[in-house]
Amino acid sequence: MSDRVCVPDFIRKKRQGERIAVLTAYDATMARLFDRAGVDALLVGDSVGMVALGYASTIPVTLDTMVHHTAAVARGTERALVVADMPFMTFQVGVEDAMRNAARLVQEAGAAAVKVEGAGRVLEVVHRLTEAGVPVMGHLGLLPQSVHRVGGYRTQATTAREQEALVSDAVALEQAGAFAIVLEHIPEDVAGTVTRRVAVPTIGIGAGADCDGQVLVGPDMLGLFDRVPPFVKRYAQLSATVTGAARSYVADVRSGAFPPVRTREKVPSA
Ligand code: KIV
Repeated sequence: MSDRVCVPDFIRKKRQGERIAVLTAYDATMARLFDRAGVDALLVGDSVGMVALGYASTIPVTLDTMVHHTAAVARGTERALVVADMPFMTFQVGVEDAMRNAARLVQEAGAAAVKVEGAGRVLEVVHRLTEAGVPVMGHLGLLPQSVHRVGGYRTQATTAREQEALVSDAVALEQAGAFAIVLEHIPEDVAGTVTRRVAVPTIGIGAGADCDGQVLVGPDMLGLFDRVPPFVKRYAQLSATVTGAARSYVADVRSGAFPPVRTREKVPSA
């Protein structure tokens, strides 16, 4: 039997109190390294737009871009569950449209599940995809695709009314069939309440320790950026390592130390 992580494992882990570790990845090389480390899932986030493609938000990320990066991650992964983000306006326009778009991520790119932001009208999409056999991860709290509406990347669900709405959205997502729910940038106690109210695992990012699992943006936790959100723990400082290695290479090329000079073989005389 394959030891690939599958959707039922997520529910089982929650029931058994086993915490779930998720990282984002965008290419086959990093996916292979994270997979070897034993992560439960690799999320091909639309954060690819910000951390790999140089955009200021996730809004410009297209479905073609997500298919391209998800396929790379799927090729580099042997064990982890590969979850692909549905980018901006690929699931909000209509259910049929969302189904066709999700099909590309699963059929063409090799994702095992998709992630969608929000609740409300999105619940019908979650229901229909799940019914069609496509597992869906929900996403509540800070929704980066709604950055223009909320006016920035700050903590969400800060008032009692917003907190109540978030808890009922989580329950509605579970009822619609979501197999897990990402909770981004919300107060710890609200994440704790949601975690206790739903039977599916909550995966927190900037939502405290009471979630059933955690997700971090891979390049953030590897220390590839000078500035990261305050809740990120950097497990390495790769920006200094990479710049240092490139600096040594530049110096070696300029000084002639690389490549090493070969001693010329003597040409035998005729
Ligand atoms: O796009 C992404 O990387 C995400 C995570 C931050 C959860 O949605």
